[in-house]
Amino acid sequence: MCGIMGYVGGREASSILLDGLRRLEYRGYDSAGIGTIDSKHKLNVVKDVGKVEQLAQKTELGGLRGIAGIAHTRWATHGGVTSENAHPHLSCKQEVAIVHNGIIENYLELRQELEGRGHRFISETDSEVIAHLIEEVYERKKDLLSTLIDVVQRLKGAYAFAAILVDAPNVMVGARQDAPLVVGLGKSENFLASDALAFIGNTDRVVFLDNRELVLLTEKNVKIYDFAGNLIQKPATQIAWELGSVSRREFEHYTLKEIHEQKDAVLQALRQDPRSVDYFVDAVQGAGKVYLTGCGTSFHAALLAKLLFTSYAKIPVEVLLSSEFEQYEGMLDEKSLLIAVSQSGETADVLSAVKAAKKMGARVLSIVNAMGSTLVRESACTLLNNCGPEIGVAATKSFTAQLMIFNMLALRLGHRDDELSELWSTGSLVEKALGLEDQVREMTERIHVANDFYFVGRSIHHPLALEGALKLKELSYIHAEGMAAGELKHGSLALISEGVPVVVLNPEDATYADTLSNASEVKARGGRIIGVSNKPSKVYDEYIEIPAAPPVLYPVLEAVPLQMMAYYAAISRQQNPDYPRNLAKSVTVK
Ligand code: AGP
Repeated sequence: MCGIMGYVGGREASSILLDGLRRLEYRGYDSAGIGTIDSKHKLNVVKDVGKVEQLAQKTELGGLRGIAGIAHTRWATHGGVTSENAHPHLSCKQEVAIVHNGIIENYLELRQELEGRGHRFISETDSEVIAHLIEEVYERKKDLLSTLIDVVQRLKGAYAFAAILVDAPNVMVGARQDAPLVVGLGKSENFLASDALAFIGNTDRVVFLDNRELVLLTEKNVKIYDFAGNLIQKPATQIAWELGSVSRREFEHYTLKEIHEQKDAVLQALRQDPRSVDYFVDAVQGAGKVYLTGCGTSFHAALLAKLLFTSYAKIPVEVLLSSEFEQYEGMLDEKSLLIAVSQSGETADVLSAVKAAKKMGARVLSIVNAMGSTLVRESACTLLNNCGPEIGVAATKSFTAQLMIFNMLALRLGHRDDELSELWSTGSLVEKALGLEDQVREMTERIHVANDFYFVGRSIHHPLALEGALKLKELSYIHAEGMAAGELKHGSLALISEGVPVVVLNPEDATYADTLSNASEVKARGGRIIGVSNKPSKVYDEYIEIPAAPPVLYPVLEAVPLQMMAYYAAISRQQNPDYPRNLAKSVTVK
């Protein structure tokens, strides 16, 4: 969703900010803008709807001078996709510029109040009130810190913002409340962003701000305060994500690169601190009741974990959709354990589920890819996916990394230590599955014209059926449904007619024979069966052969051709798989 980037230092800010915006593109956005303060103490802003590259082409950008600046990619919530609504927003006297992520819930009330005192608003956004408020309070106080303290007392909602003021041209300020904000520490320059990826090419030393914290940055100094104005000392963290892993390398899209990275990612996910794994195992064993939560693909990983925990360790688990968590008010208690699953660690629905669970007294653990994210900080213990930044909007390597962590936990909980070592064979098995690429591309080029696809599987293959359908929908915009294979005959079979593609997930395990019968029922009604299995059958019209493997690994191996199918369907339909329409990588609004 929206992205913030800010810079203060000795270099020309606009090109650094532009580069930062390019790195934030993956989050999903519909407009972008940059604002700087020049040597004549004048604020200059260039912004528009469309892509960062379009912004980069604007001639006005060349005239944007200054060593302090802020920039933003906007994903519209309040107000349409227009250049007026794009950030940065200026105060009436053009003395303050702000960029903002999140939602100011009381903006209508604040706007009315400010208009009553003569402020003129240009945009329809909730964000603009911040610029006007800062201007008004600063005029009175002439002190940045006390201005910020006053302003944040007035704002309700979840937000992170950065601001620059003509009166303090060498300073950038920011505040965080329930939306991420990270400081990047450079040499005689400092950065502020909603995501460390924005500045990672310049520094890998970061300070993660916590909720209710303010920051004042100059080229030499970074000072962090709580909302009451107390100075806080916070340690810097060295982040391991290297610049190289943010590049597309030889791949045409990030999505394809990330699909290929899975052969390493599945092993990286197993490289956990043993103390953290022990912590998880003890917490699950000691809990009165275990709950899992997540959204989208992470929810599918949680569904699979439920089946693994139940069948390998006989531990019952409930999976609760984070976006539906409000339904469960009063259901968790002090004996409950909630494991939250999230790639970004910033999904608003997940964070609000965690908040609600904690309020009920539950202990919260998490499985997260983005280190330093809010979810990590809200959890008693986290197992990191360790798969590096995932830029493509579609979750690919983070999903299989999540599955590997759950495989490991389920085997540990079930005391099946002999099978744990088999998990290390996943890297070479995934590599074999990646060898299916040409076949999957060729098949997808033939069948992508279908209007509807169905994905079916039983037991541990059911969450993969859901995931296969989600991937196809979000990348190619083809309608797709995933379901338990045995449910077909309870309704959806009515939709099957000549040539309708049905992807049948059917490796050789306890579910094999029943799933094959379901596939035959579809075939008898004209459906086109795409079998994903290690065992061929004449029922399959198309056969995608995944390597034979220990059963616990089949979901990981199935994921690879399903992701490729979605990727090549997007390519065949001339869609950009990295940035599907209407979607954002990190969904930071509820
Ligand atoms: C997956 O391909 C989607 N982009 C989406 O469903 C995603 O999994 C969901 O928004 C949850 O995100 P998270 O894992 O970062 O919490």
